[in-house]
Amino acid sequence: MGIVLRGGTIVTAVDYYKADIRIEGEKIVAIGKEIILPEDRILDVEGHLLLPGGVDVHTHFDLPVGNTATADDFISGTQGAIMGGTTTIIDYATQFKGQTLKAALANWHAKAQGNCYVDYGFHMAITEWNDDIAEEIGWLSQSAGVTSIKLYMAYKNFLQVDDDILFQALVKSKQCGVLVCVHCENGDMIYNLVKRYRSQGNVTPYYHPLSRPIVAEEEAVYRIIALAHAAQSLVYIVHLSSNNALQIVMKAKCRGNRVYAETCPQYLLLDESYYSKDHFESAKYVISPPLRKKENQDFLWRGLHDGMLDVVATDHCSFNFHGQKDAGLHDFSMIPNGIPGVENRLGLLYTYGVVPGKISINTFVNVTATQPAKIFGLFPRKGTIAPGSDADIVVWDISDVSVISAQVQQQRVDYTPYEGFQQKGKALHVFLRGQQVVQNGNLCDEDPKGIYLLRKLI
Ligand code: URP
Ligand code: ZN
Ligand code: ZN
Ligand code: ZN
Repeated sequence: MGIVLRGGTIVTAVDYYKADIRIEGEKIVAIGKEIILPEDRILDVEGHLLLPGGVDVHTHFDLPVGNTATADDFISGTQGAIMGGTTTIIDYATQFKGQTLKAALANWHAKAQGNCYVDYGFHMAITEWNDDIAEEIGWLSQSAGVTSIKLYMAYKNFLQVDDDILFQALVKSKQCGVLVCVHCENGDMIYNLVKRYRSQGNVTPYYHPLSRPIVAEEEAVYRIIALAHAAQSLVYIVHLSSNNALQIVMKAKCRGNRVYAETCPQYLLLDESYYSKDHFESAKYVISPPLRKKENQDFLWRGLHDGMLDVVATDHCSFNFHGQKDAGLHDFSMIPNGIPGVENRLGLLYTYGVVPGKISINTFVNVTATQPAKIFGLFPRKGTIAPGSDADIVVWDISDVSVISAQVQQQRVDYTPYEGFQQKGKALHVFLRGQQVVQNGNLCDEDPKGIYLLRKLI
């Protein structure tokens, strides 16, 4: 017995057509007309879009920061994900000083296992490098299913690595076929600007973006592309926030450099005006890179439209306003960086990208599911609707209108940066490997069904 989704319109990165989907077990087994067998359960999805489950390749769940940890762990984070139509996440397992990569990965597996409502994989964020760590890269990619690593060019004295390490990691990753993801901001520049603002008594969140100017991002993007070019390595730029940085990426792509770039809903939809001089509420928007001037947004949308930006991920890294963000009440540099959003990615992109025609529905699917699956070694199992692919399917109700609000969100954090934003369309039903996990917009009251995904080299 199978399940047939009947009467919907299938959307992939390249197609838009009306057909039925037949699911058997965990897989899509047939697409077309007259594919219903006698015992099948039929779900009428007439009038709805059928999207491949979203793939969010940038989350931080259960991440310790200072003496606190992100508000969302794998349970609440992946509940948010699934309610928003995302069926796969790749979280940043993070190596802390003195840890082997094997220990760091085991730590992340312990956090996630049995707690995920979506399928999940890990990148490995590396904060310390030596010959032994370098040797572990091969093990990660060949035996542990972790085919991407991350390095930070910012967060001095915490996560930041220098050019020597960046270069060595790029060379080693190239040898192993591993993709290097990079947080691009000049951490030393930022360190000094923060020091200067604090010494002047300028300590409100207003000074957060001033201490992390666009040029800090622009320079770092240029530098990592140069290093990757010299190392003949691929590179993936996470959370690109500005037109200046995009221009560098575009030049590199046009030259033929293999560079991928990701942006996030917050950079497409929110801007610098959220940082006020007199309201500590601004702490809710303290993220790195910071929100930019509004004029950047059109360029980022254009970048998605033109294929110069490859992926939209959330960088979901949530901290409560009360009790976490307020650690920086008298010093913006003590505000834990990050915002929630894993629940809102598809809704926001659809409402503010597809509906006004900034991106096509195919581009929407491409940047939220297909490209992330391809770039991170999950395609065609994930990221598309095709026979043989996992039956991760979102029945998207285009007629629904709602308002985003912390009061009704699944994410376990006391605010949302998108409070009051109208959303058009929603994930009405969601299937994860053939099992219905969201029904009529409600989480099916069952145990977490997500499994760990061993990713392939690309
Ligand atoms: O502010 C942010 N983005 N926090 C999460 C960590 C990172 O830099 O990706
Ligand atoms: Zn319906
Ligand atoms: Zn980052
Ligand atoms: Zn991040």
